[in-house]
Amino acid sequence: MPGPGNILSNVVLSQLEEHAPFGGVVPEIAARAHVEAVDAIVETALAEAGVPPETLDAIAATAGPGLVGGLMVGLTTAKALALAWDKPLVAINHLEAHALTARLTAGVSFPFLLLLISGGHCQLLGVEGAGQFQLYGTTIDDAVGEGFDKVAKLMSLPYPGGPNVERMAKQGDPDRYALPRPMTGRAGADFSFSGLKTAVRQWARQPEFRPSDRADLAASFQAAVIAILRDRLHAAMRMFRSAKPRDIDPVLVISGGVAANTAIRSALTQAAADAGFRTVLPSASLCTDNAAMVAWAGLERTQLGLFDSLSTAPRARWPLASLSAG
Ligand SMILES: Nc1ncnc2c1ncn2[C@@H]1O[C@H](COP(=O)(O)OP(=O)(O)O)[C@@H](O)[C@H]1O
Ligand SMILES: [Mg+2]
Repeated sequence: MPGPGNILSNVVLSQLEEHAPFGGVVPEIAARAHVEAVDAIVETALAEAGVPPETLDAIAATAGPGLVGGLMVGLTTAKALALAWDKPLVAINHLEAHALTARLTAGVSFPFLLLLISGGHCQLLGVEGAGQFQLYGTTIDDAVGEGFDKVAKLMSLPYPGGPNVERMAKQGDPDRYALPRPMTGRAGADFSFSGLKTAVRQWARQPEFRPSDRADLAASFQAAVIAILRDRLHAAMRMFRSAKPRDIDPVLVISGGVAANTAIRSALTQAAADAGFRTVLPSASLCTDNAAMVAWAGLERTQLGLFDSLSTAPRARWPLASLSAG
């Protein structure tokens, strides 16, 4: 069983400053920033790791899903390196990289239940192996991180919203505003966050809403998110259990940028423990997008001999459930 792994280098370049004035990611800025930075990042990573290129086993790069401009820059660079150094290419699904991170950090074995909560995604999946996923639930509208970012914007908190809403929520009263909890109690394990966001907007636009009310609204929003996640997680834990043999020690992995939220981490860990699941949470810096998780997914695929051709194209959409191991 692979993992835990040893991270030799994990260079992460954030573009937050470039995008902050616009309150969100601007595709053209993202693509240009990738072009400007990628060569130096590869050099720094190799220097920090202290490994000569000829000792590498493969070159892994994200091929999707996401903004094609940035993906194209990374994937093309990886192809050039693979060609120059005569190494196989591994094209990584970004969601699979988030999904497998707990094997890098904690050596978690298959199968496990995964809650992936990030800026672009909100999914509950059974992870059977690299490339083998079963979808239990997904959002039918916004992703949870997107909800945090939009709520931050409504309250004039700086981008990215998640950490700022969490900071505000710490000082607020979560019972002050009554907010909806869409989809809770429904069959299946799908999510919905847009009604919650709309309710927050209505409160924030009230003429009597003051900056001093923001902490209570942030706390009420975060409490509603936790209630929704907890309810849907319970549904997925039941599905996971009924699909698996009784003798496995059930594990829940929570990953993606929103898993950096301490209140969400502790509430869901408790909910899982109540249902007999052990929770594994990668550290906050490995929950948000990073290079090591992509390298790790590359390692797992390399061990299975799952390489990709140099004609592989980046994909804007690439659902995990459509991946196959072969
Ligand atoms: N402490 C936090 N609380 C809530 N959300 C957070 C926190 N930290 C980061 N996020 C959210 O995580 C998202 C970024 O996660 P990431 O995995 O990079 O997303 P994606 O890859 O889908 O763009 C953003 O929406 C951000 O607001
Ligand atoms: Mg991500």
